[in-house]
Parts: sequence; C-alpha cells; structure tokens
Amino acid sequence: MQIISAIADLRSALKNRGRVVFVPTMGNLHAGHISLMEQARTHGDTVVASIFVNRLQFGPNEDFDKYPRTFQADCDRLEAAGVDLLFAPTESDLYPEPQAYTVEPPAIQNILDGEFRPGHFRGVATVVLKLFNCVQPQAALFGKKDYQQLMVIRNMTRQLALPIDIIGGETVRAEDGLALSSRNGYLSTAERAEAPRLYRLLKGIRTAIRAGRSDIEKLETEALAELATAGWKSDYVAVRQQSDLSPPTGENAPLVALAASRLGSTRLIDNIEI
Ligand code: PAF
Repeated sequence: MQIISAIADLRSALKNRGRVVFVPTMGNLHAGHISLMEQARTHGDTVVASIFVNRLQFGPNEDFDKYPRTFQADCDRLEAAGVDLLFAPTESDLYPEPQAYTVEPPAIQNILDGEFRPGHFRGVATVVLKLFNCVQPQAALFGKKDYQQLMVIRNMTRQLALPIDIIGGETVRAEDGLALSSRNGYLSTAERAEAPRLYRLLKGIRTAIRAGRSDIEKLETEALAELATAGWKSDYVAVRQQSDLSPPTGENAPLVALAASRLGSTRLIDNIEI
C-alpha cells in the first residue's frame, strides 16, 4: 500500500489507475471502516482510503484534541484489507492557508445532529469536497451510521454535479447491537454494557411502526423517557423521512429512526431504516 501526504504526489500516483473508489476516514479504524474498504474493492479498480482528522468539523467544546490517533495500527489494517493507496495529508498539506472558502449546506445542516453541532456539516462538506478534488474518485463510500452526513454528501454531490457515485455502507454492529464507532473507546465498562440500549430502542420504534403505530411523537417521547430513566442525556430521538430527513407526512414514504444521546461524556448516534 502506497502512503502519500502531498496532493501533487497523490495526483500523479492516481494517473491511469482505472476506476478509483474512495473511502475517507478520520482514522482509528474499526471493522465498520474495514467493511467499507472491502465493499469499495467491488466497485472499482483502485481503492483509496484517507485518514485526516478534520479540525473544521469539530466544535470548540468537542473532542478534536483527544480524538484517537492510531496511525500505525490503521495502516496495518488498511494494508490487510487490500487498500491500494492511503492519502494521509497533514494539516498543512490540506489546509496550507486558513480555509476561507467553505461549503454551506442548506437547511439540513441545522436539524438533528446539526442543531446540536453547529457548523459540523459545513466542516464535513468542505473537507469532503476538498478530498474529492484531491483524489478525483469515480465512486466514494460513506457509512450509513452517519446517516445525516451521508445525506449531506449525497445532496452536495448531486447539486454540484460532481461525477462521483456515492455509496452508503451498512452499519457494522457488535454482537449486542452497538454500532461500531471510534468513540465507543471512550465508554467505561458500565457504560459499554448500557450502550446497546440505543439500538434496542430504535428497533422497538421500527417494530411499533411496522405494526401500524402512527403516533410518532409519542414513540419519540417514550424512547427519550426510557433513555433518561437509564441515565442517558439525549439530544434527540426522531423518526424522519429517509429522502430528506423531514418529519413524516403520513404518506407511505420510507422512514428512518435516528437518535443521538450521551452516556457520561460520550455522545453516541445510531439509526435504523424502517
Ligand atoms: O465520517 C467521517 O469519518 C468524517 O466525517 C469524514 C467523512 C472522513 C470527513 O472528515
């Protein structure tokens, strides 16, 4: 696996490499990322991963400094997963000057996670567009675990007519249902034992809706109450339309249940398509 940090070197290394499939990450890789790398292999000729902890998408009180950086272990995992090239720019490679031009997503950036993480999706969209310009892939994979992020990137790619197929990868879970995430490492033993409740609740919402319940707000309130009783501090539990994450209209549009809640100081997010 080639490891490259400079944009110019990346561009020359990617000449004549057929269909390039790209999986951007912030490192601290787990089985969820590796599954995206393996799927990437089936979509093209050259698989490119990136590792870059993007300061622009972290709020002032978020975990940018303590975000786990495990570069050597990540390289070993990517190599074992058959990734052809790793783009691992430093901050001065990617942001040689303050990033004054940014991508401003529309209203979707202010709902759900965006309401609680102001500026987050601006930072994500900006770095993803920049990474796309560096790698110039024909396809890119993003995990469905970050459902709103996938939506923002899909919509940005479509509206800016980027010639890139955006592919959503299924969430990989631990045996007890907890969605794999780099932030799970912050959980204490007791919190880790409690954490699968979030997915159980989302599954419960799915079962209830499939069984015909349409009192969505009540379902959301019940889930929030159960989380509060179990010691969680929730940002939201919400049932939304898959297409644009707007509230359900009562018609038969596909739905998704999403949640973000804090166990101790660790914020977990998850979702389930209905
Ligand atoms: O999902 C992530 O790891 C990040 O948000 C991404 C897409 C790599 C952009 O920094």
